[in-house]
Amino acid sequence: MKKIAVIYKSLHGSTKRYAEWIAEELKASLFEASGVKPAQLTDYDVIVYGGGLYAGGIIGVKLVTKNPCKNLVVFTVGLGTPETSDYTEILTKNFTAEYLEKSKVFHLHGGIDYQKLSIIHRVMMAFKKKESEKIPLNERTSDDRSLLETYGGKVDFTDRETIKPLVDYVHEL
Ligand SMILES: Cc1cc2nc3c(=O)[nH]c(=O)nc-3n(C[C@H](O)[C@H](O)[C@H](O)COP(=O)(O)O)c2cc1C
Repeated sequence: MKKIAVIYKSLHGSTKRYAEWIAEELKASLFEASGVKPAQLTDYDVIVYGGGLYAGGIIGVKLVTKNPCKNLVVFTVGLGTPETSDYTEILTKNFTAEYLEKSKVFHLHGGIDYQKLSIIHRVMMAFKKKESEKIPLNERTSDDRSLLETYGGKVDFTDRETIKPLVDYVHEL
């Protein structure tokens, strides 16, 4: 039996929900990232790390990319639709080429509730909205469209079914 830990960092709960589902499926230990010391990572055969996407960054991911892990699997949770979003920039910003060559990163669909955002995050999203609006209709990416469609409201795209590829991948490691 592999010893697995699921570690997450979530500001608004979507990543936490996915981490709980994944830990349940994998019968893994579950930790919030701030409670984990780097030296603990190598106690596990597999570390599954999940972080919310904020301005192209995977929050807290340095805990696992800057410290040794025996096997690392990362998942991101964002507002972009995983099937149509282009994650190239996110991947190159958050991982080394060497890591990307040998490891898989999974992307899951989160949600947003504008009522619950901090002032700074509201301002950041207002800025992003303006940027997306400036792009001609036929040049907007799926991320631009989903931002504009959901702007100001509350949406929750979390779906337990979508963790299956990640769970299967970890089982096969
Ligand atoms: C300020 C801000 C920046 C964001 N940046 C991105 C982004 O770059 N890409 C993305 O897909 N989603 C982005 N989102 C959406 C979040 O990733 C989404 O709400 C996700 O569900 C957050 O996870 P959490 O609930 O675990 O914190 C952003 C949200 C906010 C408020």
